[in-house]
Amino acid sequence: MNIKKTSLLGHFSANENKISVLYAAYSEKFPERSDFWKRLAKDEKRHSTLLSELDERFNNEILAWPISENAPAILSYIGQFLDDCIMQAQSESLKFSEAVNNALSVEQSMIEKKNFDIFPTANEEVKKVLEKLNRETEGHRLCLEKYVTDIGQIFD
Ligand SMILES: [Fe+2]
Repeated sequence: MNIKKTSLLGHFSANENKISVLYAAYSEKFPERSDFWKRLAKDEKRHSTLLSELDERFNNEILAWPISENAPAILSYIGQFLDDCIMQAQSESLKFSEAVNNALSVEQSMIEKKNFDIFPTANEEVKKVLEKLNRETEGHRLCLEKYVTDIGQIFD
C-alpha cells in the first residue's frame, strides 16, 4: 500500500485528541460527574501525545512495516463519529446515559475495529506504545461498564 504510515499515526493521534475533547465536553456538561470524565479526558490526551511523538519521530520515514488496507477508512470513520458526538455534546438535550453510551461505543470500537492492529509493526517501540494504549482502552471500557452498573438505577 503506497501510503505513509506516519500520516496514519498522526490521524490516530488526532482521533485520540478528539476523544479527549469529547470527554472534556462531557465533564462540563455533567458537572456533578466531572471528575470521572476529566480523568478519562486526561488519559486520552496522553494517548494523543504519545502517538504524535511517534509520528514526529518517524516523520518522513517510510517504515518497512505493513498496515491494514482499511486503516485510513477505519480512522476516518472513527474520526467522523467523534466529530458527531462532540457536536451532540453541545446540544442541551444530551442525557447522561447517551454520553456514557457514546463513550462505550468509542472505546469498544477502538478495540473491535482493531485500531491497534492497524499497525502490525515490526518496530518494537511503536508496538509497545500501541499495546499500552490497547490495555488502557480496555481499562476505560471496563470502567465505563462498571459505572453503568453502579449507577444504573439512578440513570438520568
Ligand atoms: Fe485512547
